[in-house]
Formats: sequence, C-alpha cells, structure tokens
Amino acid sequence: MSVHIGAALGAIAKNVLMPGDPLRAEWIAQTFLDDAQCYSTVRNMLGFTGSYRGVPVSVQGSGMGQPSMGIYATELMKDYGVDTILRVGTCGAISASVKVRDVIIGQTASTDSALNRLRFHGIEYAPGADFTLMRHASAAAEEAGLPAVVGGLFTSDSFYNDRSELCMQLADYGVLAVEMETSALYTLAAKFGRRALTLATVSDHLLTGEETSAVDRQQTFSDMVELALATVERASA
Ligand code: HPA
Repeated sequence: MSVHIGAALGAIAKNVLMPGDPLRAEWIAQTFLDDAQCYSTVRNMLGFTGSYRGVPVSVQGSGMGQPSMGIYATELMKDYGVDTILRVGTCGAISASVKVRDVIIGQTASTDSALNRLRFHGIEYAPGADFTLMRHASAAAEEAGLPAVVGGLFTSDSFYNDRSELCMQLADYGVLAVEMETSALYTLAAKFGRRALTLATVSDHLLTGEETSAVDRQQTFSDMVELALATVERASA
C-alpha cells in the first residue's frame, strides 16, 4: 500500500476515474463497471477496480481541493503506475457561453493557488490536458449527442470566495468555469509523464444564479461518467 491508499500492488488499473466524492466512486463502480472490487477504505476515500467493456478501470475518490487531489494523484501515478486519470466532477460556470448541464472538457487550468508558484519559483506554469484524451472525449461527446464544450477551467483554492470579481474577470479571457482540482492533476500528470483530463458538468452558473436540481445533477453526472468511460475505451484501443 501507499501512504494514503490501501491497495496491493497491481490492484489498481492503468485507467482511473476520479470523482471528488468517494460515495460517487462507489456508485460509479457499482453502476458502470463489471466485477468491481473495493481496493481501499483508508480515510473512507474509497477506491474500486473493475472493467468496462473488457478494459480494466479503477475509480478513486480524490476529495475536494488541490492538496487532496495532489495526494491521491501522486500515489496513483508514482506508487501504482497509473497511466491515465480522468477527473469526473462538477464546476460553476463563469462564462455566458456555457449553460448548466453542459460538460466542460478542461483544456487548461488557471489557478489562484500558490502550489505552482512555489513549485516553479517565479515561472507561471501553464497546466494543460492530454491532447489524445481531449480529442477522444470531444469525439465521443459528439457521437453521443452530449452538450460538451472544450475550454479553460479556473482551479480555485476556495469555494467561498471574497473576490468573485477576479473569478469573473477570467471569463473575459475565455475561461469557462471554476472548480477546485484540475491544476494540480494536470501539473502532476506532466511531472510523472502520464495522461490526464478533467470532465466537469456545470452544476451552477455564477452569472445567472441558475442551479441544477438533484435529479438533473444525477442524470448529467451519469452521462459524463459514460463519456469518461467511452474516452478511456477509445484511448486504450
Ligand atoms: N466553485 C468551485 N467549485 C465548484 C463550483 C463553484 O462555484 N461549483 C461546482 N464546483
């Protein structure tokens, strides 16, 4: 096992879906994977391995925010040899060009975090998605008729923000939505030479105040998980 994941070596697949909520990880494993087995219950940050149309896939909760995502993504890639991580989450829209229930395919991740400022000391590193995964996700969404938009995310260290005008200014520079994990995920995937992509459904709109209902959230989340699995299937072919 690694420091925070209680799995035996070899128990985690090369492809991993990462929702923030560990109970979502359990739901994904039980709903979409064949022969899913739980490999870790450490801190209740559940992880499961099964298969999707014959492709081995794991699902690991990331927790909320970059420090938590950073711990799990690092251990998956460094200690368990994971090759491909797809974050499946939600985001708040900041751009008028996207609507609630859209799926954002996260091309880049701007951030207000000091993590990369400390890591790169004076250089503004630009975390980006793996192009192959992005291309497959975009094609799979088009084929499934899902409302998907490729574009920039803002990875914020705070959900409750005193400076919402700064967040909104990013929309003027093409950023579509705010969430809390992708910058760390993309940076660490680059560090370990692996592939990562965030898919995030728009759960709320910061411009209009519109929110999705619980039923809507479940349906759009479910569609997005199918998109993530179709992306993994295409990228494994
Ligand atoms: N902020 C940060 N993360 C989020 C939001 C938000 O408004 N909505 C969904 N995830």
